[in-house]
Amino acid sequence: MYLSKDIIMEGNPILRLKSTKVNLPLSSDDLNCAKGLYEYVIVSAVDELVEKYKIRPGVGIAAPQVGINKRMFAINCTDFLDENQKQYAYLFINPLITYKSKEMVYLPGGEGCLSVSRDTTNLVTPRHLKICIKSAILDFKTNKIKNVTMTLLGYPAIVFQHEYDHLDGILYTDKMFSIDEVGCEPLFTINENEE
Ligand code: NI
Repeated sequence: MYLSKDIIMEGNPILRLKSTKVNLPLSSDDLNCAKGLYEYVIVSAVDELVEKYKIRPGVGIAAPQVGINKRMFAINCTDFLDENQKQYAYLFINPLITYKSKEMVYLPGGEGCLSVSRDTTNLVTPRHLKICIKSAILDFKTNKIKNVTMTLLGYPAIVFQHEYDHLDGILYTDKMFSIDEVGCEPLFTINENEE
């Protein structure tokens, strides 16, 4: 599993490269990278393990963030706005975005990134509300690759777009606006009385 020391930080030119397609079937190096990325986001969701490994938790991590410029990333997030609280835990390989809604939204409070340590609170990044994607995914139960298509809406769509940008050398900090200037609506409103 990757640890905090393995994560490349903003300012390192590796994060700015356009990543290349992953060759399939996976090489053993690429398989190790894929597993490491996936484990990172799974462990991130378990408080005791976050403490044990002293990692900064994240809902997504892309291969360039560990110094590997290949088109793959892992996400593990809950669609907390959905009544079913659907979980999105995937390792995407060579993903493509095949549709982007015109409607844009932003995450109130702004995004964060394992590769960014400065405070960017209240600067927000516009994202497409809905996307359709096509990707290979690695099924860790069978170690087999599957081709899938998915429609993502809201929070998982935002997480996907953030990680996808890493594959093209783009950071969320490149696309930050103040709330007055962003020109779209928040994905949800934060209740100021709640923590
Ligand atoms: Ni990031």
